Amino acid sequence: MTMNKRISDKIYYIGVNDRATAKFEAMWPIPMGVSYNSYLVVGSEKAAIIDGVEVSHALSQIAYIRETLGDRQPDYLVINHMEPDHSGSIALLLHAFPGLQIVGNNQTLAMVKGYYGVADHTIAIKDGEELSLGDVTLQFFLTPLVHWPETMMTLLKEEKTLFTGDAFGCFGALNGAVVDTEMDAEPYFPEMVRYYSSIVGKYGRFVQKAIARLAGAEFDTVCPTHGPVWREHLSRVVDLYDKLSRYEPLDEGATIVYGSMYGNTERMAEAVAEGLAEAGVRNISMHNASVSDLSYILADVFRHRHLVLAAPTYSDGLFPPMATVVDAIAARSIPNRRVALVGSHTWAPRAVKAMTAAFESTPTEQSVEPITIKHSPDADALASARALAHTLVGK
Ligand SMILES: Cc1cc2nc3c(=O)[nH]c(=O)nc-3n(C[C@H](O)[C@H](O)[C@H](O)COP(=O)(O)O)c2cc1C
Ligand SMILES: [Fe+2]
Ligand SMILES: [Fe+2]
Repeated sequence: MTMNKRISDKIYYIGVNDRATAKFEAMWPIPMGVSYNSYLVVGSEKAAIIDGVEVSHALSQIAYIRETLGDRQPDYLVINHMEPDHSGSIALLLHAFPGLQIVGNNQTLAMVKGYYGVADHTIAIKDGEELSLGDVTLQFFLTPLVHWPETMMTLLKEEKTLFTGDAFGCFGALNGAVVDTEMDAEPYFPEMVRYYSSIVGKYGRFVQKAIARLAGAEFDTVCPTHGPVWREHLSRVVDLYDKLSRYEPLDEGATIVYGSMYGNTERMAEAVAEGLAEAGVRNISMHNASVSDLSYILADVFRHRHLVLAAPTYSDGLFPPMATVVDAIAARSIPNRRVALVGSHTWAPRAVKAMTAAFESTPTEQSVEPITIKHSPDADALASARALAHTLVGK
């Protein structure tokens, strides 16, 4: 066990890095890789593993536990989150350490049984309950739907360290150091916004509940299941999560997402961008929906106050790459945005109607009159796109 894997007096890092998987959850690209963080809390009487790792890395985790504990056996496996990126190693952990008792809430234990057929050697805990490891104590906080129903957090009271599961986590493997004080943590922040927007973004309300539930918990270190351990940047990370989960834009910029087969809708999107720039918007993110990965689009939608969606009509509906984007934004129920829609068609306009319908039962509201163009945009149409930009930013 190298020095920088010892996080504090009682806590050791026993997680792993994945730089081989191209898409996390078979969906989200991870160019910086991802870490599956696991921690070992060694008390005077008992030792607890906090969360497992993805199954293909289970043997590494087991080796790190043996290296840290020597002849001593781990007593508990606390499961803050049952998603298989953290629970996949359960069966192998039980095989390696037969005395291990699994600690989780009722929902966790039902999932453990359903996924791994394990029903014995379990300890069901309730919100606020404590578990003594001898000279130190774990306390459990149920924080459901951040981002699964069973998610909870575990506090090591004496060391003011909170194990938060996926909350406050991010994409990006750990390149040597584990704690943010020992690295340049800056590259992880955009990856936190992208992780949050893609995976947690629908559950802002529950992230807010979790933050409220933690009000009484005293901690100065956060150990998430992905990315760095937060100590130096803890308040920045908590602020970022608070803002994202309140759906507050991070800046006054604009996201333009367009689909275009033959360039006509794209010309409208370009005209909107020119108008936004004229109106003084400095950070404008543009995405061709057929090219940009959805996670980068969603991250920009969470980041910027303004959102413009431009799409062709396709087979009496929405151009499919834009339908994917629109559905993903609608699924996340995002309020507090200034939104404009642009549609194109050749014989029967459907794009604006389809986008409007997708947002109908969501808090995402159009802020300006939509524009529909037929065939190729003429000078008037392009002028209306620039005007829409000015109206959108209130100028
Ligand atoms: C396969 C396909 C299906 C289309 N279906 C429709 C349609 O149902 N109704 C319509 O008005 N236009 C339809 N169009 C025309 C497009 O909407 C039109 O080409 C587009 O709005 C032009 O924008 P673009 O140059 O940005 O692709 C279709 C085009 C293609 C290629
Ligand atoms: Fe998860
Ligand atoms: Fe995870």
